[in-house]
Amino acid sequence: SIDQRVTALLAQMTLEEKVGQLNQYSGREVTGPASDRKSTLLSSISSGKVGSMLNVKGVKDTREIQAEALKSRLKIPLLFSLDVIHGYQTTFPIPLGEAASWDLDAIRLGAHVAAREAAASGIHWTFAPMVDVGRDPRWGRVMEGAGEDTYLGSQIAKARVLGFQGEKLGGTDAVMACAKHFAAYGAAIGGRDYNAVDLSPQQLWETYLPPFKAAADAGVATFMNSFNTLNGVPATGSSYLQRDVLKGQWQYPGFVVSDWGSIGELVTWGYAADKKDAAQKAITAGSDMDMEADVYSQNLAQLVQSGKVKMEVVDDAVRRILRKKFELGLFDDPYRFSDEKREQQVLADPQNRAAARQMAKKSLVLLKNERATLPLTKQLRRIALIGPVAKAKRDLNGSWTVDTDTTRITSLYDGLRQRAGKATEVLYAKGCAVTGDSRAGFEQAVATARNADLVVLAVGEAWDMSGEAKSRTDIHLPGVQEELFKALKATGKPVAVVVFGGRPLIFDAIAEQADAILYAWWPGSEGGLALADVLYGYYNPAGKLPITFPRNVGQIPIAYNQQYNTGRPVTKPGDIRYKSAYIDAPSTPRYAFGHGLSYTTFKYSDLKISRPQLKAGESVQVSFTLTNTGKVTGEEVAQLYLRDPVASVVRPLKELKDFRKISLKPGKSQTITFTLDPNKLAFYNNQLQWAAEPGTFNLMVGSASDDIRLEGTVELQ
Ligand code: IFM
Repeated sequence: SIDQRVTALLAQMTLEEKVGQLNQYSGREVTGPASDRKSTLLSSISSGKVGSMLNVKGVKDTREIQAEALKSRLKIPLLFSLDVIHGYQTTFPIPLGEAASWDLDAIRLGAHVAAREAAASGIHWTFAPMVDVGRDPRWGRVMEGAGEDTYLGSQIAKARVLGFQGEKLGGTDAVMACAKHFAAYGAAIGGRDYNAVDLSPQQLWETYLPPFKAAADAGVATFMNSFNTLNGVPATGSSYLQRDVLKGQWQYPGFVVSDWGSIGELVTWGYAADKKDAAQKAITAGSDMDMEADVYSQNLAQLVQSGKVKMEVVDDAVRRILRKKFELGLFDDPYRFSDEKREQQVLADPQNRAAARQMAKKSLVLLKNERATLPLTKQLRRIALIGPVAKAKRDLNGSWTVDTDTTRITSLYDGLRQRAGKATEVLYAKGCAVTGDSRAGFEQAVATARNADLVVLAVGEAWDMSGEAKSRTDIHLPGVQEELFKALKATGKPVAVVVFGGRPLIFDAIAEQADAILYAWWPGSEGGLALADVLYGYYNPAGKLPITFPRNVGQIPIAYNQQYNTGRPVTKPGDIRYKSAYIDAPSTPRYAFGHGLSYTTFKYSDLKISRPQLKAGESVQVSFTLTNTGKVTGEEVAQLYLRDPVASVVRPLKELKDFRKISLKPGKSQTITFTLDPNKLAFYNNQLQWAAEPGTFNLMVGSASDDIRLEGTVELQ
C-alpha cells in the first residue's frame, strides 16, 4: 500500500533529506517578493534539498528540472505547482465571474479543462481554488473567490476541487487542488491585502470555515495557509487552525503549504523573534511545506537536533507530502506528466476554447436593460463601439493568468464584428484610457456615436487593478470613463455599457442613466466572442451577482448576509430619525446579491411547504412553480432564503439556503422543490454549538436577495 511505501522510504531518509521534502522554491517567475536565497537552485535540487517547485511550467522545463531531482540519493521526484486559477493556456473567466453563473457543472468543467491543460504541461498541483469568502470589494483578491456567500461558496469549492482533481487523484488529466487561504483571509481589515483579521468565533465557523470543510470533504489534496492573523495569531503559525481544526477535528490527511514567504513573515508580524523561532512555530503549528521563505531549510534540522522540534513532527509533515507523490504515481513514473506530444495535443484541443466561451457566456450579468435595449438587432445599421476596453485583449484575461500570448484572445471589437456580420457596420473610437484624466478622445467618440444608431461602451478596470496586492480604497470606475459615458449619453443615442473588472465597481451615472448594463468581469480569452453572443441574443444572459455592489465605499461592509434588523430598523421609507441609517446615502446597495436580469421574464407561483410544523431532525420540502412569461427561452437561478427571526444569537435578515438553475422555453413552467434539512435551520450559538432552535422560520423564494417573490413559514417544535 501507499502507506507502507511511505514508511519504507521515510526509514531510509536522513534528517536533511526529510527537511528537503518540506522545502519549496520558485523557478524563474515570481509571484511574491523576490527572495534573497543564496544557494543555487539546481544543486539544491540534485542534492535532495527541495521537495517541490512552483512557477516552472511546460513539459520541457519541468522534465529538465525533474531530472535534477532524480540525481539525488533517494531519487524522490519533485512536485511542480502553479497558480492555475482560471485556466492554463485557455483562459476562463475569473473565479468571481464563474461564480456568477451559479452553474456548478460548468464550473467543474472549467476547472477540469484547466487541469487537463496544466497536467499536459508538466504541472502536478494548482494553488486553487481560493475558497475564501470575500465580502469586501476593496480587497483585490475578491476576483479569485466565489463571492460573499458561504453556501454558494461551499458548493463552488466542491465543484472546483472535483474539477481539478477528478474523483480520485492520479489521472494524467488532473492536478492536485489546494484550498486556500486557511483561514479568514477574506476578512482582512479594511479590505487591505495581507492585513490582520479579527473575527468572532461564530463568524469564523459559520461564514469562513464551511467552504474549506466542503473542499476537505471533496478530497482536496492540499491546503494553503494564509498571510493574515486571526485574532492576533498569524494563520501560518496557528495551531488552532492547522492542528486542532484541520488535522484534528476534520482528520484532514493532506498537507499544508505555507503562502509565499509567510513562515518568514511570522518575524515581520512580530510573532516570532527570528527565522529559527518562525520555523519552530510554523512546523509545530502544522505548516508542512515552506513556500519560498527558505526558513525550514536553514533551521529545521538544527531545531530537531537541539530537541526543540520532535522528529515525529517532521516525519508527519514529510509523510503527508510523500503520500501525495505516491498517489500521483510519480514514484512509478516521475515523467508521467511530461509527454510533449500530449502537451501539444491537449493545448490545441478546440474543446477547451469552446468550454471557456460557454463559461464566459454564463458568467455575464445583465444588471439593467431599459426598453429592451438589448439584445441588439440586425436592424441596426451602425453600432458605435466606444471605450478603452473595446479593443483590449490583455484586460479581458484579467489577473492571475498563465498565458501571456494575446494573439489567443478575442477582443469585444472582434467578437462584435463577427456577430454583426454584413448587416451592421461597427464603428470604433477609444474615447479615453482606463486611467488618467485626458478627455482628448471625447470629441471623436461623440462624433462616432452621432453617426450610429446605438452605442456600446466598453469600460472597466485594467487587468492589473484587482488581484493579489491590488486593494483599492476607491472602487469607482477609474479615470474619466464615466465622463465619457455622460458625453455619449448626451447625444441622445441609446447607450449599452459593458463593464469589465475584477471586483464590484461603482459607477453612478452609468447605473442611473445607461440604457443597458452588462457586467463582464474579466471574461477570459473567449470573452469577446461570449459578449457578442450575449449582446446579440444568441445566448440569453442568466448570471446572478455572487457579491453585493455598493453605492459607495462608505457602505462597506454591505454583504447581504451581514444585514441585521438592528434595534432601530427604518420602517417608513425616508423616516431615518434615530434609525439605523446613513444621512447621506441609502443603506441599500446599488445591486443586490443574486441580482441579474434576462431577456425573458419569470413568474414564481404556488408556494407549497410540505409540512407547516417540524420535529427536530425532520426535513421540509419547499416547492413552487416557475414559469417563463417572456418571449424567449431563458435560464433562471431560483434562490431560497431563510431568516430565523427569534434566536439566542441574532440572525441575519436573509441567508441563502439553496438555489436551482433551470432553463425554460417561453410559456413553459416547472415545479422546483428545495429540501430544507435540519442543518439548514442551524447556526452556531454562543457556546459554539451547531444547533437549530425551536420557533418560526421565514422562508423566502425569489429571483434575487432583493427580489423575493414568495414567502412562507415553517415552525420547528
Ligand atoms: O498561490 C499564491 C497565493 O495565493 C498568494 N501568494 C503567492 C502564492 C503562489 O504564487
